Amino acid sequence: MRSVLEFQSKKTQGEAISMITCYDTWSAKIINDSSIDSILIGDSASMVMHGHPSTVHADTEMMAAHVKAVSKGAPNKFLIGDIPFLANRKSREVLMDTVEALMKAGSHSVKLEGAKGHLEDISHIVESGVPVMGHLGLTPQSVNQLGGFKVQGKGEETAREIFDDALALERAGCFSIVLECIPAPLAEHITEALTIPTIGIGSGPDTTGQVLVLQDLLGMDPSFQPKFVRRYLEGYKLIMEAVNRFDADVKARAFPVKKESFV
Ligand code: KIV
Repeated sequence: MRSVLEFQSKKTQGEAISMITCYDTWSAKIINDSSIDSILIGDSASMVMHGHPSTVHADTEMMAAHVKAVSKGAPNKFLIGDIPFLANRKSREVLMDTVEALMKAGSHSVKLEGAKGHLEDISHIVESGVPVMGHLGLTPQSVNQLGGFKVQGKGEETAREIFDDALALERAGCFSIVLECIPAPLAEHITEALTIPTIGIGSGPDTTGQVLVLQDLLGMDPSFQPKFVRRYLEGYKLIMEAVNRFDADVKARAFPVKKESFV
């Protein structure tokens, strides 16, 4: 899948959309050859790739570098680049400079967290020819205001607020919305009310599509096992075994052998 039209037509055709996060060229090459529909170059790169405690530490330079790396490895996939913390809150000019940096780095669209206070900015980006994905529920850039990485929309009032924000994002021109860590019935209700596709993470089975962080589904951090992540590989264990085998071979002088050497 390469275009926003193909992405959106999946909902009309009643098909599920698969999305995965990716930040670098070598894993992008693998995803490019897979059946996954789309790639999110998420600001989770700040935590997964740079070791920061939250996504607050991502900036435009970091995100553009990751988008560039992924676009080199995955020329056949639809790419969504994350607008980093505060880039949409300083000025329209800073926002549009960020959008320009992500698009020129190779993204096909951008993702922006929240709704209140930037609906007009979203419309402006869309009217400038750039597809925008919304993001509601647990919006990690607001982790300090939310008091932690917690499920959102459990109460009637907050559920209503998220529902209304979803309608507002569709009206503002978003082509899709990520629903992160909200109760499954609320995600289903929103998905039914919208014409655009929803992509869930920790929001149950009834969104149009699902996204997971690549490293989470590969089991790269054995200490990180939230309820909503399904591990498809024990990556940490497998890589540990491989590097320890290399270490043992080197120390036993069993690597390299003749056929691995130039004569
Ligand atoms: O940055 C990210 O990876 C995200 C997904 C978790 C939706 O926003």
